[in-house]
Amino acid sequence: MAKHGKIPDWYDKDNEFEELFHKDTTNEKTTNRTIEKILKKYKIKTVLDLTCGTGSQVFHLLKRGFKVTGSDISSGMLKIAKRKAKQEKVKIKFLRGDMRTIKVGKFDAAITIFNAIGHLTKTGFAKTMRNIHRNLNDGGIFIFDIINLNYVLDKNNIMKMSMERIASSGKMKVRELQHSIIDNSGILTSYSIFYTQKAMRSPKVASKNIITLQLYTADELREMLAKNGFKILSQCGIDGSKFNDKKTERIVTVARKQ
Ligand SMILES: C[S@@+](CC[C@H](N)C(=O)[O-])C[C@H]1O[C@@H](n2cnc3c(N)ncnc32)[C@H](O)[C@@H]1O
Repeated sequence: MAKHGKIPDWYDKDNEFEELFHKDTTNEKTTNRTIEKILKKYKIKTVLDLTCGTGSQVFHLLKRGFKVTGSDISSGMLKIAKRKAKQEKVKIKFLRGDMRTIKVGKFDAAITIFNAIGHLTKTGFAKTMRNIHRNLNDGGIFIFDIINLNYVLDKNNIMKMSMERIASSGKMKVRELQHSIIDNSGILTSYSIFYTQKAMRSPKVASKNIITLQLYTADELREMLAKNGFKILSQCGIDGSKFNDKKTERIVTVARKQ
């Protein structure tokens, strides 16, 4: 079994694949629209994305008029984000740092999107909350999403986490197969195999990856936020839908600095 809490080197190793699958996915668009709506609702101007990866939210929000700074622990992901900024001829500050400790300044909002906090242990997430508190203006808000533990534990929903996808890059096809298991401490372990195939040649196993994510229930998140200086404003689904404890797959939580 993989040990949880170590940042997967997968992000540095396989980020070209990650980027390939990320392009224009409905999931990504839905996510970014929901975050944008929440930021607009609270009249946010400055945003710190502490797990920006290759910049999905950063570029989306910049285009919508927000002032955004991106940081991430993975230099491989940041390299792609910087290259995209150059290609799009936009000036964005990208910094390398750990969301548990990085000090960037004071922002109206901080975000960590696409299950990013799941990479941390529960202690690491509590530390991150306190660090985000320090990077926010008074009354600033923290928005994050994480897979809902109660959804995964309900019925056979774990099977719905299995995934198979194919993307093309020039003449190369990349196919990913993934399945997941959940343990009794709420850690989801996902096993992926990536196959690559160039033109009519035989497919090759390009890599095998294991990623662990600490999942939470909505109640657990509320309790942790309250203990670490935040007041919950809302919880909803990734598409902005009303939260349902067993039906919502990814919980989006919005909390205000107290
Ligand atoms: C699933 S990706 C999401 C990236 C981006 N938000 C998106 O939606 O495309 C999670 C990101 O969290 C970053 N990450 C994981 N642990 C981190 C930590 N302790 N501090 C900062 N970034 C971290 C990873 O490097 C990765 O880029």
